[in-house]
Amino acid sequence: MIRISRYLKPYWAYVLLAPLFMALEVYMDLLQPNYMADIVDNGIANGDMNYVLTRLLIMLGIAFVGMLGGIGCIYASSVAALGFGTDIRSDLFRKIQTFSFTNLDRFPTPSLITRLTNDVTQLQNVVTMSLAMMIRAPLLCIGSIIMTIKISPSLASVLLIALPLTIIGIIVIIRIGFPLFRKVQSKIDRVNTIMRENLAGIRLVKAFLRKDFEENRFQTANEDLRDTAIKAGRIMATGMPLLMLITNLATVAVLWMGGIKVQNGGLQIGDLIAFINYLVRIMMSLVMIAFNLIAFSRGKVSADRIREVLMEQPDIVDPGENPDGASEDLKITRGQVVFENVTFSYSPDGEPVLKNISFTAEPGETVAILGETGSGKTTLVNLIPRLYDPQEGRILIDGVDVRKYSLYNLRKEIGMVMQTSLLFSGSILDNLRWGDPDADLEKAIEAASIAQAHDFIMQTPNGYQTDLSQGGVNLSGGQKQRLNIARALMKRPKILILDDATSAVDMATELKIQQALRRWNHKCTTFIIAQRISSVMDADKIIILEQGRIAGIGTHEELLASNPLYQDIYRSQIGKEVQQYA
Ligand SMILES: Nc1ncnc2c1ncn2[C@@H]1O[C@H](COP(=O)(O)OP(=O)(O)OP(=O)(O)O)[C@@H](O)[C@H]1O
Ligand SMILES: [Mg+2]
Repeated sequence: MIRISRYLKPYWAYVLLAPLFMALEVYMDLLQPNYMADIVDNGIANGDMNYVLTRLLIMLGIAFVGMLGGIGCIYASSVAALGFGTDIRSDLFRKIQTFSFTNLDRFPTPSLITRLTNDVTQLQNVVTMSLAMMIRAPLLCIGSIIMTIKISPSLASVLLIALPLTIIGIIVIIRIGFPLFRKVQSKIDRVNTIMRENLAGIRLVKAFLRKDFEENRFQTANEDLRDTAIKAGRIMATGMPLLMLITNLATVAVLWMGGIKVQNGGLQIGDLIAFINYLVRIMMSLVMIAFNLIAFSRGKVSADRIREVLMEQPDIVDPGENPDGASEDLKITRGQVVFENVTFSYSPDGEPVLKNISFTAEPGETVAILGETGSGKTTLVNLIPRLYDPQEGRILIDGVDVRKYSLYNLRKEIGMVMQTSLLFSGSILDNLRWGDPDADLEKAIEAASIAQAHDFIMQTPNGYQTDLSQGGVNLSGGQKQRLNIARALMKRPKILILDDATSAVDMATELKIQQALRRWNHKCTTFIIAQRISSVMDADKIIILEQGRIAGIGTHEELLASNPLYQDIYRSQIGKEVQQYA
């Protein structure tokens, strides 16, 4: 169990300083009513203006010192809270980087963003507030009680009734308010999630004319949040006057009893004023404590959500980080890939997506994977760089289980083009250098030329230095795909995986890419997933996947001769193409 409070540890000095400064402020605050009493009893009563002035100056001085204490407290608590928030954020960020695809499947992106931003801020506020208020309120409360007893123990007996009544009132408010405030927190999450989803997909929303639907969805969540917040506010709105009523009744009782004492000469009028001043401070500090508790309960929701991420076990452990794991020097040299009875499902109790897959890809071979959508092609290739681990069977590269390689050495030699192409903000060259951070322009040009990207890159305003806006929106789908291929080639990997990498590229260009790859002076084992049979005909091996099983494996000629499924696909596709070109 990770305790969020441990993030305050490095800032312990500030955590200690804040309440000390606050104690100074409270102490100065507590002195004020006393001086007020002096002014009334000794200055005004005797008409001694000099006395009044000096006392006023002293009060000003006290207020100034109190202010310094207040500023010091805010400074110290801010330093502690900001440091605390920054550390949590970087730990969260670092943790998320260790997540495997399975972990990421469990936490949707908008939720992770909310946790990294809102939840951390919420906690930060709780820290600032509690360092200031949680000390101030009890100190002020106890100090004021002591002062009232000092002024008049008999008058202070009013507190014996007023205090318990107030505390009961606060408990009732909290009892009703707590669950409501928790609800408010989860409704804020919901609004955030919808907002993030919508903003991430705003183009799709427009294209699908889902504007009204999305607006409705947002409005419903937004109004739901408002209603819950109002309900919670109403509790406070009815509770506060009730507490004020108790305070006022207590004041009346004090005035009444105190008035009699003043008449008897047992109490000075200034002391009575000071007493009432302290009484109000007591009541206010209790209310402050109540507010704090509520803030705490909201903070706890955020803390739980942050802890969930921090405690998530990355389900793929890098043997490189494991002392008794693989040796660091285990490296891929040839690029032979062997699947041995591999069975995989996304959830532990779910239907397997891949069933008993076995095949061998020799170094330098091109293996094509063909199969209808949802048959498990992407899943199969994702197992090679260990984006997921299979439940049964194993995958060997150069005769060694992939789980034995350090993730760095494993993924360094695997170039991957994922099904959905993705580019980052930065220049084209920056994006290509993802594959090899030290690469020079020459190497980038070589990779881009093979991927048939060089020509269109040269047509962009600044060539390889052209800045891609985020998401690569200023490129066409096929151009993005080709940059993704070039990025993978930059690695000069031993194993190259092209998952539907040319689906948005025309057939002539696709053919050029394939020919260039074959001419490339770097040999790698290549996996090609494609929809078009024409893209895979030349492969050394074609694997036909059907609902997670291998339904055929062989060269184009072998399959065409013997595999009915392949014959079907061939007939339907080639037939179409012939028609197209006719
Ligand atoms: N992250 C995931 N979590 C749970 N199930 C998944 C996940 N990804 C894919 N699946 C399921 O696994 C099955 C195989 O998916 P996969 O993406 O491997 O198919 P594919 O052959 O690549 O299809 P396509 O040609 O459409 O890309 C599908 O039924 C899909 O619903
Ligand atoms: Mg796929």
